[in-house]
Amino acid sequence: MMGGVLMGKSNSLVVIGAQWGDEGKGKVIDYLAGKADVVARFQGGNNAGHTVVYGANIFKLHHVPSGILSRETLCLLGNGMVVDPLVLIEELAELEKRGIDTSGLRISGKAHLNMLYHRLLDEANEKLLGEKKIGTTGRGIGPAYADKIMRRGIRAVELTGFARFRERLSEILPLQNRFLQEIYGHEGFELDELAELYRPAIDKLGPLVTDGSQLMAEKLDGGKKVLFEGAQGTLLDIDHGTYPYVTSSSTVAAAAASGCGIGPRHISQVLGVIKAYTTRVGEGPFPTEDHGEAGEQLRTRGHEFGTTTGRPRRCGWFDSVISRYAATINGLTGLAVTKLDVLSGMDSVNMAVAYRCRGKEIRNFPISLEELKECTPVYESFPGWDEDISRVRRVEDLPAAARRFLDAMEENTGVNVELVSVGPDRSQTIIYRSSNLETWIASGSKKNN
Ligand code: IMP
Repeated sequence: MMGGVLMGKSNSLVVIGAQWGDEGKGKVIDYLAGKADVVARFQGGNNAGHTVVYGANIFKLHHVPSGILSRETLCLLGNGMVVDPLVLIEELAELEKRGIDTSGLRISGKAHLNMLYHRLLDEANEKLLGEKKIGTTGRGIGPAYADKIMRRGIRAVELTGFARFRERLSEILPLQNRFLQEIYGHEGFELDELAELYRPAIDKLGPLVTDGSQLMAEKLDGGKKVLFEGAQGTLLDIDHGTYPYVTSSSTVAAAAASGCGIGPRHISQVLGVIKAYTTRVGEGPFPTEDHGEAGEQLRTRGHEFGTTTGRPRRCGWFDSVISRYAATINGLTGLAVTKLDVLSGMDSVNMAVAYRCRGKEIRNFPISLEELKECTPVYESFPGWDEDISRVRRVEDLPAAARRFLDAMEENTGVNVELVSVGPDRSQTIIYRSSNLETWIASGSKKNN
């Protein structure tokens, strides 16, 4: 059957964040992208910030999948994303200036545009919320998704011609101006001036706009290896996260299907990226947050400052209540543990195995934010290790104490560790032998894109 629903076995891998974002997905995805034919993002926008270290080069990516750094990789910004055209052209210009070939980038025509007025509305809304603010990245993400749902968004397909873009903008701008003027006291935008601001983006991005689902179907049916790149993390998911202190998209593995317009049967593996400790930026409850010396040590050693906003991240110990929850919600088939090297030199390392809440010990992540706020972690303490592990490349060569900590993560999460990262560089990666991930890496071929 040609190109039909019963074609070939899929070989796709979804990589998602299993905490509150900033788990080190950029590094893991960059490592795996070299083994994929297609790297696709399915949600979020430039609220994401991936730092990828490649030799002496440090790349900070916001929209563009990390796959752009690997030759011959097709990169898709899927329909589930909100794309800021003004920011995206800057990002591309920066990559091109540094010699990166960006010709493999495509944008789904069904992705929504994150416009200048969304950014203003995001900032103004946070100001109005005062002490109850979400602590957003201020990039306009919430208002852009809100407009999509309210059916007054502008889709990327409108970037294929200046006249059609201006026409759609003219339908939408009067209402946006009313919000800006009447609620937020901003003067608003003049149609032609605003449309002109987008002309360079239309010229540059218009030719990249495509039917993302069709493209993915062709690649999947052709047996290509696809990597779906998640942004943010499970606890920031609009449904499953710590609502309302969440982002405005579906960050979980299942969203890879709807966010790129493919069927879920194509997803064969789900890798959850999890840091060896926990961090969070923005507001909202965080049971293992440590306001003392341990939290400070983790922040300093782990360089825990936001890629997008530069904000210091809140830090604390590894929380296996969260990792179990993430395993269930995402159907994780493997764990990628990052920043294990940051724990080197600590006298002992802690792991939350349950929460104590209202006099009871609970092992499941509570739905109610009120309940979560009252939860305190029940820790198991493990001996630390002094060795510098940043040069270790085989699990067997890790200190016994580090291996014990990884074993405890597996036992408490119920998912096998398949990858361990011991430093920011691509080479500082350990792949577990005979893991599903190793099989994925070795499978198929990267050719004839
Ligand atoms: P927004 O996505 O900008 O609306 O922000 C909503 C919440 O998600 C805030 O707590 C942000 O700090 C958080 N957030 C958004 N993107 C990221 C990310 O890439 N890493 C970590 N936190 C994020």
